[in-house]
Amino acid sequence: MKDAAPQTIYLRDYTPPAYLVDDVHLTFKLAATKTRVMSRIRFRPNPEATSNEFFLHGEDLKLINAKIDGEDITPELTATGLSCPVPDAPFTFEAEVEINPQANTALEGLYMSNGMYCTQCEAEGFRKITYYPDRPDVMATFTVRIESDLPVLLSNSNPTGQGEGWAEWHDPWPKPAYLFALVAGDLVNHPDLFTTMSGKDVELNIWVRPGDEGKCAFGMEALKKSMKWDEDVYGREYDLDVFNIVAVDDFNMGAMENKGLNIFNSSAVLASPETSTDANFERIEAIIAHEYFHNWTGNRITCRDWFQLCLKEGLTVFRDQQFTGDMRSHAVKRIDDAVVLRAHQFREDNGPLAHPVRPESFVEINNFYTVTVYEKGAEVIGMLKRLVGDDEYKKALDLYFDRHDGDAATIEDWLKVFEDATGRDLTQFARWYSQAGTPRVSVREDFVDGTYTLHLTQQTPPTPGQPHKDPMVIPIAVGLLNDNGDEVVPTKMLEMTQAEQSFSFEGLASKPIPSILRGFSAPVILEHDQTKAQRAFLLAHDTDPFNKWDAGRKLAQDVLVGMVRDGATPDGAYLDGLAAVLRDDSLDPAFRAQVLALPSEDDTAQALVDLDHVPDPTAIYDAHETLKLQIAQHLQDQLPRSYADMAVPGPYTPDAEPAGKRALGNTVLSLMSKLDGGRQATQQYATADNMTQQLAALGALLKIGKGKAELSAFGEQWQNDRLVMDKWFGLQVACASPDQAAATAETLAAHPAFDIRNPNRFRSVFGALGGNAAGFHHPSGKAYDLLADWLIKLDELNPQTTARMSTAFSTWKRYDDNRQAKMRHALGRIAAKPGLSADTTEMVSRILG
Ligand code: BES
Ligand code: ZN
Repeated sequence: MKDAAPQTIYLRDYTPPAYLVDDVHLTFKLAATKTRVMSRIRFRPNPEATSNEFFLHGEDLKLINAKIDGEDITPELTATGLSCPVPDAPFTFEAEVEINPQANTALEGLYMSNGMYCTQCEAEGFRKITYYPDRPDVMATFTVRIESDLPVLLSNSNPTGQGEGWAEWHDPWPKPAYLFALVAGDLVNHPDLFTTMSGKDVELNIWVRPGDEGKCAFGMEALKKSMKWDEDVYGREYDLDVFNIVAVDDFNMGAMENKGLNIFNSSAVLASPETSTDANFERIEAIIAHEYFHNWTGNRITCRDWFQLCLKEGLTVFRDQQFTGDMRSHAVKRIDDAVVLRAHQFREDNGPLAHPVRPESFVEINNFYTVTVYEKGAEVIGMLKRLVGDDEYKKALDLYFDRHDGDAATIEDWLKVFEDATGRDLTQFARWYSQAGTPRVSVREDFVDGTYTLHLTQQTPPTPGQPHKDPMVIPIAVGLLNDNGDEVVPTKMLEMTQAEQSFSFEGLASKPIPSILRGFSAPVILEHDQTKAQRAFLLAHDTDPFNKWDAGRKLAQDVLVGMVRDGATPDGAYLDGLAAVLRDDSLDPAFRAQVLALPSEDDTAQALVDLDHVPDPTAIYDAHETLKLQIAQHLQDQLPRSYADMAVPGPYTPDAEPAGKRALGNTVLSLMSKLDGGRQATQQYATADNMTQQLAALGALLKIGKGKAELSAFGEQWQNDRLVMDKWFGLQVACASPDQAAATAETLAAHPAFDIRNPNRFRSVFGALGGNAAGFHHPSGKAYDLLADWLIKLDELNPQTTARMSTAFSTWKRYDDNRQAKMRHALGRIAAKPGLSADTTEMVSRILG
């Protein structure tokens, strides 16, 4: 039997646990198909309980025996757990269970990856290891003994003893079971040391498979920078003597913050110049920081229940974004984050999967690790900080750590801290946590007798289960420019709280040009009918880098929409604006690369939907290709010069400055390849000494239908490097023409190196297929069918990744009847699969609506 009939869980039904746990002893006798887990758990009745029923979660466990206070018992077992009568006083529960890590392809609980044992317990995986109250508000200290012949045996926090075939670990910090971790394998370490602000030495290790030890140095530097940053910026010191990171090849997510033993997808930690791109380096730095920062925001202060997930994830994403901004460029980071938010979170908020930052119900919590919880959750914290100011934010955070250290807390606790620290009433602000959907703010302006007035209206469209919306508190940063491009009113934070509200600026000599929502001060859609000339003006003159970029972005989107809808030709103002930006050496190359990048085809589809136009992905693809060619032609004389200027002399370093140059150089390269038949890209491929240059050259060639020889040379060169081979698989699908995308994915899925059990490899092919908009939405429907076939196969092995990837179909309602019918058919086939997991069932039924 797979799952019992899945239940919907509601936030409003929260009740405290009936029993609390003081401490846990676990002994693992590791064996690939028959691992024994012995538990000894000290329980006591919870004085705050509303029930005295004793229930322990447990799934796919074979119970060997169980005892209470040393006496054998025969508990009642179901598909989801165990219950039995217990004393009305503290007692010790013991159990011995058998589990099969080898057969665990879901990668949740204890599983095997290339001969290595490894765990993933968040959110509800611990119940696949032993019987336990697997909920985050039950916190306990853990002592763990591992018995195995494998050379390296790790668990959370501090080693307390080891010998031939065994090791013992103790975690002095009470934690919920989702933070438990165990690793056993033939591993080597990359060691280092960090001295904390109070002078304590912490031993640091990155554990990897032999052969990967040369790919740890960058991750280690990122870890030390993160530790220092959290001390400097948040005053948070590490609280143990050891910090271990392990890299594992088979992992559903990016990484996991288990106390003292972070476990990483190898793609999120291993790096070298030859095998990793600049984007990989930046992501690795951010993920290492993110998981490390969870030590305070997630572990020391955890979540009362999974509805509060944004309490730790939104805050920790916000912190990792601040960190990346500090390490690199705030302007560039803000634009990157806004691009992700608009492309993914706005899309989620606008479709059948829309839900509040704090959801009110779920069937499978794994389906709620979403861009809304994470990215919008981070935006909400950014808004709070903008509203109260930096000093008050710091006061509030200090109070949060002070008041809630050791707690399993809620969003109410979080907001109360801000109210107490700043004296603000956050009742209305709290709607950001409960109300789904992206607010639309529309702008009207007038200018009378030197007074300029912005009339703003806000409105949030209905979302599933939430037909009516209330006005939000929206921080709107505004600056005003005059015709010369001088800033006549510097950035001011307007606080919009009403459905309609006006803000005036007095004493102006002439009607200004407004720059609204500077720095993307709120996660809203700004509806402001500006002329192309005004947008081009802001692209040239805005002092706010975000709005300067956004003006170019909106121009590009207008151009693309005009091309698709009316067959218009690209606007000269836009092309001239790009030329000026490309030429402007005073601008950061990374920023120039962002201005030159077009919105994605999916963004253009959404822009068309917003204009009540049914998007045709094929027409959008053609418009994008045409525009790229026209940009290339318009910039033709400048390109070779810009390309040469962006050459980085000397050995490769992944730092922001050379990476920015490579980003712009490679943007220019892809434009050049539209005109030179791939001559420059061929040369770059041949001479590249790092993956960033090699992969960009290969991509530019594939995009123009060339590069066959390079592609096979690449496959040969990197056949033994899994992470690079993921790129080889993914790039072919991403760069395939609309007609070829499905066939390319199908061929690659039959390649001997394709492995359905490895989420990275599966995503490299089928994630790329979903991301190839015109290929995925090919009117034949062949990509829909192919993805459905493979999701059906994957669901039997790995429900979590299947459910996540089914979101490729979530925009089905946007499209024409033919595509809608074909997507509904594909979704229907998935839904009809006998024994479909609860994870995928929930997603598919929400997508179908
Ligand atoms: N706690 C999560 C990992 C996780 C997610 C475990 C879902 C179980 C289910 C971790 O802190 C996380 O958020 N990781 C992100 C990367 C991060 C940089 C946003 C991930 O894995 O993608
Ligand atoms: Zn996280």
